[in-house]
Amino acid sequence: MAEQLRYDGRVAVVTGAGAGLGREYALLFGSRGAKVVVNDLGGSFYGEGASQRAADVVVDEIRAQGGTAVADYNSVVDGEKVIETAIKNFGRVDILVNNAGILRDRSIAKTSDQDWDLVHDVHLKGSFKCTQAAWSHMRKQNYGRIIMTASNSGIYGNFGQANYSAAKMGLVGLANTVAIEGEKNNIHCNVIIPTAASRMTEGILPDILFNELKPHLIAPVVAYLCHESCEDNGSYIESAAGWATKLQIVRGKGSVLRTSIDEKVVSPEYVKSVWSKVTDMKEAKHVDSIGQASGYLLEVLENLKEGKLDGVSDTFKYTNKDLIVYALGIGATVKDGNDLKFLYENHPEFSAIPSYFVLPGLLLNMTSHIVADALPSGKADLTNVLHGEQYLEICDDLPISGTLTTTGKVFDIMDKGSGAVVVTNSDTYDESGRLLVKNQSSIFVVGAGKFGGKKSPIAGVVPTVAAPKRNPDAIIQYKTSEDQAALYRLSGDLNPLHIDPNFSAIAGFSTPILHGLCSLGFSVRAVLAKYADNKSELLKAIKARFSAPVIPGQTLSVSMWKEGKRVLFTTTVVETGKLAITGGYVDLKDTSAKL
Ligand code: NAI
Repeated sequence: MAEQLRYDGRVAVVTGAGAGLGREYALLFGSRGAKVVVNDLGGSFYGEGASQRAADVVVDEIRAQGGTAVADYNSVVDGEKVIETAIKNFGRVDILVNNAGILRDRSIAKTSDQDWDLVHDVHLKGSFKCTQAAWSHMRKQNYGRIIMTASNSGIYGNFGQANYSAAKMGLVGLANTVAIEGEKNNIHCNVIIPTAASRMTEGILPDILFNELKPHLIAPVVAYLCHESCEDNGSYIESAAGWATKLQIVRGKGSVLRTSIDEKVVSPEYVKSVWSKVTDMKEAKHVDSIGQASGYLLEVLENLKEGKLDGVSDTFKYTNKDLIVYALGIGATVKDGNDLKFLYENHPEFSAIPSYFVLPGLLLNMTSHIVADALPSGKADLTNVLHGEQYLEICDDLPISGTLTTTGKVFDIMDKGSGAVVVTNSDTYDESGRLLVKNQSSIFVVGAGKFGGKKSPIAGVVPTVAAPKRNPDAIIQYKTSEDQAALYRLSGDLNPLHIDPNFSAIAGFSTPILHGLCSLGFSVRAVLAKYADNKSELLKAIKARFSAPVIPGQTLSVSMWKEGKRVLFTTTVVETGKLAITGGYVDLKDTSAKL
């Protein structure tokens, strides 16, 4: 048997000790060597009247057991008088259990100022006044154990107890700060959240519970919290019926609401679009201190400053061979001498076709769950997603090999009825942390709409630009091969929709279709060839909307309109006359000889 926990030499003040829980605490302390101040005003549980009898009876009980106790009849609101009783009789105060309480239950509409003030005075102000009065003694002796008494009515709320709930949660806040201020002087403050049969709960709790909820089953928990061997400080302990547990407030991972440190506003629409992330508690954690809480905020700001988005990240490794496979996948051919620089690694101007860099963003979307996680339906996989739009911005020189890091997050969500559009943003960095490209993808998720979301995009979703009404300034046609998708997929987008007839049939297509980004690659080649001397370093940005599927083997006709440094384009399937890409443009830098 463990050694008995004793309180010899300790002085314990228990407020409201004339009945219920307080009485049990006082009896237990008294039976284990503590000198006890039995404080009780002796009024009704409603906070009216006063009587010395309540305290006197308990003092007699303690003395009858051989213990030492004195009565104190002051209201806890006069905390200094309560503590003075301890100092006058016993010369010190080691333990303070703030327990006294009253109820004045009323619905919000019927709560009077008096109902509010009396409840707050006894619970909150009374606990503070007693604590404050004990404080200097405890600091001087470098020891103290303080209990605040909260309630489930505060933690969870309870009909008709607005005044009481608020005061009880106020005590949790008070305990948090008392625990911090007392720490260096070995003054600990913890919270008890009891449920016990007493005059306060008579008629409120069902009989079966009332009979099991003996207050003496909670007293040992409070006694241990007040023992010198207990190291807890700032804990909330719930106890009832011979059971106890610790409670904690937890904080979710949350969601960053700005895309960069320069973005000084947050739109309500954006907040709405990421609300499921803001309120997601899957990764919720307890935060130990206000310092730790602000530490996380500093981390968020630091990430924003460095342009690191909150969300998912992935690495993407490529070599010159990958660039060549991509170039072949979008129709580059040795038959055209100008394409050799994209197909031969020893070519003096060997370079990447810039549209290759849509892949890190796309693959991050495909391998992470950010799209699915952002949707109320939670479902977005290869069977129900279609690529809607793509934007690529080149931010720096593009290396011909490397290991890149891409961070991405959901930027916007739209409810289009038949489906949802999820817009993701991603940033891709090289090994030295240089930002190479930014991608924005709009993913159409079939059947994920009708969740009551907004229809239009927020600012920052890059719009397509309609082609001018005049005849195109140039048209280039490319015949794709029947193996085009089989070749293109080797660059990384292995969605079976583009190769497996069974899979494409399930998705509603009579035959596997070409990747939208493959048709985009053809279109970008056309613009580069016509307006940029095939110099990939002249390309600044690309935008396109995928409006109809292309079957491998069909012919693509790229119509182009030059408007300053912007080349607008549409891409049509020659065999069907259908527009496969609309609203597209390529922005070029102004250094081209041809511009
Ligand atoms: P109780 O009514 O049996 O005991 C409270 C005692 O406090 C009474 O003897 C009363 O005379 C005394 N008191 C009231 N106002 C006072 C004042 N101004 N100064 C000094 N003494 C005063 O109540 P019970 O159930 O033992 O509750 C004790 C504490 O536990 C209270 O703070 C209550 O809010 C809290 N609590 C009780 C729960 C329960 O299930 N019994 C649930 C949650 C919290």
